[in-house]
Amino acid sequence: MTIKLEDMFDDLPEMPPFVAGIRRAPARHFTLNQKDTELALRNALRYVPQRWHQQLAPEFLTELLTRGRIYGYRFRPAGHIKGRPIDAYRSPCIEGRAFQVMIDNNLDFDVALYPYELVTYGETGQVCQNWMQYHLIKRYLETLNRKQTLVMASGHPLGLFTSSPAAPRVIITNGIMVGCFDDLQNWNRAAALGVSNYGQMTAGGWMYIGPQGIVHGTYSTILNAGRDKLGIPADQDLSGRLFVTSGLGGMSGAQGKAIEIANGVGIIAEVDYSRIETRLEQGWVSRVTEDPAEAFKAAAQYQQQKKSTAIAFYGNVVDLLEYAVNHTIKIDLLSDQTSCHAVYDGGYCPQGISFEERTELLRSGHAGFKEMVDATLRRHFELIKALVDRGTYFFDYGNSFLKAVFDAGVSEICKNGKDPLDGFVFQSYVEDIMGPILFDYGYGPFRWVCLSGEEEDLVKTDRAALECIDPQRRFQDRDNYVWIRDAAKNRLVVGTQARILYQDATGRMNIALKFNEMVRNAEIGPVMLGRDHHDTGGTDSPFRETANIKDGSNITADMAIHCYAGNAARGMSLVALHNGGGVGIGNAINGGFGLVLDGSERVDAVIRRAIPWDVMGGVARRAWARNANSIDTSIQYNKMRAGSDHITIPYIADDKMVADLVTKAFADLKK
Ligand SMILES: NC(=O)c1ccc[n+]([C@@H]2O[C@H](COP(=O)([O-])OP(=O)(O)OC[C@H]3O[C@@H](n4cnc5c(N)ncnc54)[C@H](O)[C@@H]3O)[C@@H](O)[C@H]2O)c1
Repeated sequence: MTIKLEDMFDDLPEMPPFVAGIRRAPARHFTLNQKDTELALRNALRYVPQRWHQQLAPEFLTELLTRGRIYGYRFRPAGHIKGRPIDAYRSPCIEGRAFQVMIDNNLDFDVALYPYELVTYGETGQVCQNWMQYHLIKRYLETLNRKQTLVMASGHPLGLFTSSPAAPRVIITNGIMVGCFDDLQNWNRAAALGVSNYGQMTAGGWMYIGPQGIVHGTYSTILNAGRDKLGIPADQDLSGRLFVTSGLGGMSGAQGKAIEIANGVGIIAEVDYSRIETRLEQGWVSRVTEDPAEAFKAAAQYQQQKKSTAIAFYGNVVDLLEYAVNHTIKIDLLSDQTSCHAVYDGGYCPQGISFEERTELLRSGHAGFKEMVDATLRRHFELIKALVDRGTYFFDYGNSFLKAVFDAGVSEICKNGKDPLDGFVFQSYVEDIMGPILFDYGYGPFRWVCLSGEEEDLVKTDRAALECIDPQRRFQDRDNYVWIRDAAKNRLVVGTQARILYQDATGRMNIALKFNEMVRNAEIGPVMLGRDHHDTGGTDSPFRETANIKDGSNITADMAIHCYAGNAARGMSLVALHNGGGVGIGNAINGGFGLVLDGSERVDAVIRRAIPWDVMGGVARRAWARNANSIDTSIQYNKMRAGSDHITIPYIADDKMVADLVTKAFADLKK
């Protein structure tokens, strides 16, 4: 067996045409020196036989100089890539076919942000680095058997290695850097050299399911923000309340739909009209205006009538907020979901220029561009402060916004006034809402894809999942029950037949076992289970997922590594570990899994041992950090699993006793 690009192409393929109207990634600024440029070329040419080098070398060089990366456009399959039904793919094992569905779905024109550049979402989150890798990965998956594991190093398929039927079939890492080089500058160089990939979370982990993936999390976040911060009772929704935010892109595009499901009124600023169009076509926003006055006037009418709606404001979020501040408009909930994790690479559009002008500036004048971004971020912060002073609740929505404001020179945004070590003056949504209310119990973004591609399978799985939830247990269960009950009605599917449903450890395990039984009984076709990496145990990030860890361990990443290794040891079909995710290189380590439900008893056993671990490893760490809801959940787990599992429970010291003792000791030291 050989796996080489020349086995797949008799001749060098023709350059396929770029379909008009498909979004293209902005040029990533070219910064390599001459020696590194040679290295990048030699690296890319490793994928193709020597007989093509004369022709490809100048082509790859042009891509590098003009786009900042070598994507190997010539090798992109022409036309529309789509996650097809699993039977349309070849492989000796079901996992090999399932992963191909997932990869192609991540690159679907309707799903991916920049499909030609293999970017699924989050401005820079790629499935792999180039189209040569895409073909090799697919060919490996077409030959993969139950005794092998495909090793994926930052988009590069390193090879197939003998393992065992109980091992993962694919093991993925993306963007992992050695500590002293773990920063954006070194990573950008590595990416331009073609040796590192920004996997984001589910882009490089092949588990993206379109914006639906985040609609549920956004719905839960804004609903609970309303209850916690605006005093709305636990059994009520956001009726009559105004949520203002920005971003209608890959993930942020979920915000319009989420506010509608939560029954509130939303205004979402977006500078790229093409993204507004996508959300209008989907029905995830209902109208668009360029006039802030019109946006707020329409919102007020809907608020008065207690009707839900999402309005797109075509323009810069800072202009929208200037208007709100100058006209004393009352905003209940305020956030931002521009791509601040890649703030200088096109993720955040400066005030005063159009989206098209920012794209041109990115290509030509990087230095001036940075100053414009920083000035806008500083203004953005001032406006938020003014609104918060008038009673608005602002939260950072996991896009590294607060960190970006700090990096733009605003040390006032730090609690300690100098650095982010003690957190920021505004809370992140995990710190305040999602952490204590969801993650600490183990509730997280469980998801599945019906690999048959049949809508009917999705309907059956929705129904089966609904039957597994007791809406009386906790208010979180009631919200999840309502979510899955109405999921089909809310028309959330983009791409493959997929569903997201927040569940805790037991809920996820029971639903997985139920689905596997349905596959066994041929009631449905095979199912790919997984989750967003943005979860209880999958991600270490002081700027997001572990923002409510207060024992000092928020700057460590042991949990995410254990989660990944533990899932591999317990036989998940796919395990992934990434650097960066939603908050940028060096700011997070995140991991996830995929498990193919083939109806077998082997998979039942994997579900029983791996799914509780995947969640409870995170709850255990949160309990050890003294998070009250995690301590309760762990005590219950210890009782439930007595004799098999046991979580170490902390003793809680008396705060006053500790403070008094240390105060006295420090006073003595000064003597
Ligand atoms: N909270 C979460 O659970 C979560 C999940 C996924 C992603 N994220 C983070 O959210 C951010 C957005 O993700 P995405 O996938 O939607 O990215 P995206 O790049 O597809 O979308 C961001 C959008 O913001 C728009 N934008 C940029 N600057 C603007 C400005 N000044 N005014 C108005 N619009 C502006 C862009 O045109 C773009 O459409 C990322 O940083 C991502 O990491 C958070």
